[in-house]
Amino acid sequence: MAAAETHLPSAAGTGGSRPERMEVRGVTHVFGKDKRSTPALAGVDLVVEPGEFVCLVGPSGCGKTTLLKLMGGFFVPTQGTVTVNDVPVAGPGADRGMVFQQPTLFPWLTVRANVEIGPRMSGTSHTARRQLSDQYLEMVGLADVAEQHPYELSGGMQQRCAIARALANDPAIVLMDEPFGALDALTRERLQQELKQIWATAGKSIVFVTHSVEESVFLGTRVVVLSPRPGHIVYDEPVVLPQHQGAVNDARLLPEFAALRARISGMIGTT
Ligand SMILES: Nc1ncnc2c1ncn2[C@@H]1O[C@H](COP(=O)(O)OP(=O)(O)O)[C@@H](O)[C@H]1O
Ligand SMILES: [Mg+2]
Repeated sequence: MAAAETHLPSAAGTGGSRPERMEVRGVTHVFGKDKRSTPALAGVDLVVEPGEFVCLVGPSGCGKTTLLKLMGGFFVPTQGTVTVNDVPVAGPGADRGMVFQQPTLFPWLTVRANVEIGPRMSGTSHTARRQLSDQYLEMVGLADVAEQHPYELSGGMQQRCAIARALANDPAIVLMDEPFGALDALTRERLQQELKQIWATAGKSIVFVTHSVEESVFLGTRVVVLSPRPGHIVYDEPVVLPQHQGAVNDARLLPEFAALRARISGMIGTT
């Protein structure tokens, strides 16, 4: 791990991806037309500052995925704007990496080739690609399975590979849609800790969608809560917890953690 950390291209403040500020302004999104229309989002304003870890939480169907896909440039909002450094988002781009609930790896490619796919498509040389895949596979703990295929990996390993693949494009912002939702509880906790570590090392902004309040308070530097559909923001606060010693997941044991989790759960109606 230490070796990989020394040559991170995107470590905070050392170059690599540029710091990027994402702004969602007055975004309303409606799927379909007339009687068959579904209003998914209503008047969403959200700014993601460089280096933030924003967790977006809300009940099922409230528009979380829609908002993330609007940020990713997969949809154009019915009303309002999404900009990165004041430039309107016109489609998916290498500045925004996407990690979905299902890992969506290419089954015919090795783990390494999956991680190298973005750099390969942007014309990065073989040597530089190899360096990137070594670095990110090491970071997510998959260096020893680099030459295997996705079907040979567990669900948690596949999701780590998908995270490495997103990071290998050196995006400034990583958009993650319930990436640990399909994993068992133990794997999920382990990956949460690892993701926190990766975020602290890689100097990216992360927007992380989840319906788990606990996950949002554990991971986020900020928690944003959406109302039931059509989603609008009903809570947007930084996560402020007292300093704690020892293992990273000690935060969950703090009374302040439990209090904040209960407060947000109360707002969503999941207590
Ligand atoms: N491509 C689509 N076409 C039509 N309706 C959609 C589409 N995607 C999502 N919706 C609808 O928009 C609402 C919000 O969906 P979604 O953003 O997936 O919610 P969440 O991720 O919070 O569970 C839901 O009612 C869903 O059925
Ligand atoms: Mg969703």
